[in-house]
Amino acid sequence: MRMLDIIEKKKLGQALSGEEIRFFARAAAEKSVPDYQLSALLMAIRLQGMTDEETTELTLAMRDTGDTADLSSIPGIKVDKHSTGGVGDTTTLVLAPLVAACGAPVAKMSGRGLGHTGGTLDKLESIPGMRVTLTEEEFLRQVRETGVAVVGQTGRLAPADKTLYALRDVTSTVDSVPLIVSSILSKKLAAGSDAIVLDVKTGSGALMHTLEDSIRLARTMVQVGTLAGKPTVAMISGMDQPLGTHVGNALEVREAIDILAGRAGGDLKEVSLTLGGHMLVLAGRAGSLPEAEKMLEQALASGAGLRKLKEMIRAQGGDPAVCDDPGLLPQAPVRRTVTCGREGWVRRMDTTALGSAAQAMGAGRTRVDDQIDYAVGFVLRVRLGDRVLPGTPLCELHARTAEDADRAEEAIRAAIEWSGAPCPRGQNFYARITADGVERFRDGMD
Ligand code: URA
Ligand code: CA
Repeated sequence: MRMLDIIEKKKLGQALSGEEIRFFARAAAEKSVPDYQLSALLMAIRLQGMTDEETTELTLAMRDTGDTADLSSIPGIKVDKHSTGGVGDTTTLVLAPLVAACGAPVAKMSGRGLGHTGGTLDKLESIPGMRVTLTEEEFLRQVRETGVAVVGQTGRLAPADKTLYALRDVTSTVDSVPLIVSSILSKKLAAGSDAIVLDVKTGSGALMHTLEDSIRLARTMVQVGTLAGKPTVAMISGMDQPLGTHVGNALEVREAIDILAGRAGGDLKEVSLTLGGHMLVLAGRAGSLPEAEKMLEQALASGAGLRKLKEMIRAQGGDPAVCDDPGLLPQAPVRRTVTCGREGWVRRMDTTALGSAAQAMGAGRTRVDDQIDYAVGFVLRVRLGDRVLPGTPLCELHARTAEDADRAEEAIRAAIEWSGAPCPRGQNFYARITADGVERFRDGMD
């Protein structure tokens, strides 16, 4: 088989055969075809698209280029959750212990931050002593014993994606539905769960900015997940503002602890309960979403969720005392409260710019080998639709130096637009996509 013929075929808009798609996935994993040919096919796919059947073939072929985790030694239905990435999005740290406290095993492999978005592994590593690199045996044992583990990939999952993602990043081919779906789901399918809950973001901080594009992406993911034999549900959630109030690694861990301790609420808690609720339903632990959300609320109120987080942290070598005293998390030397300069309403936030502001403070990487500063970031004190007066707190900066704080203040001010008249609040969920179709929510779900 010749790569040139495959490129030619896709260039003309024809569907590729399973054999051709598997050749491409193997070539990417083994790097047996030059990058320029892989890149040419990526661009042809970006411009011509793929059918659901081709996308499914590509997903399975990419999955099969590497290891597959075997979770069968963990009793019960294992449900995975994946978010397409956001800012201040710490749902995993809130829902993993809550779902586990409700009896559903959570065997989760998470990722690191990318660009303006944060990553669960980096957040966890802000906890003193915490290990996220476990062997497969340690990972499975921890889930059997405590019900929950959140770690980096064990084994070599979907190596084809590693090659292709790096090429997409530099060839303007990230924003392609078949390429995003195969990238995300090849890794999720290799991670070995029985069912998948997807949180597909939409808005100014998301991979897909418009609702229709986000729904198109989610529909394809649900189709492919289902065709691959895993019950899959996708929620479209808003990323028109950071999900939580805290942005930055240790700060986000603090917010998750505050929620589990009953000291904080808001959109991060709401979204975590809904996504966790879907996990409990797919795990067969609850008969309906309302019943599942009630179980999670109870696990929260009783402190069972926070106790579960402590167990997980202890099992992974971290200091569980952070759950009782978040002051033990890394602290930034420079703290500054920034206030609003005018009267008005919050009309719009550039969430990507807010994420980039935290990244520039040191909370994220510009290059893969950059060191992260766990302590830095900011707490945003306003939400979309809020009314403010001169002097109303806008944000609290946690910076390494005064200069970093100055730059962050300027970037955050520039990322927020104001209005002289009342504006709508953000919406947490826009739609739910299942194998049965799309259900749209006009006004949030409540
Ligand atoms: N995350 C991934 O892992 N892959 C994509 O293509 C986009 C987001
Ligand atoms: Ca709700």
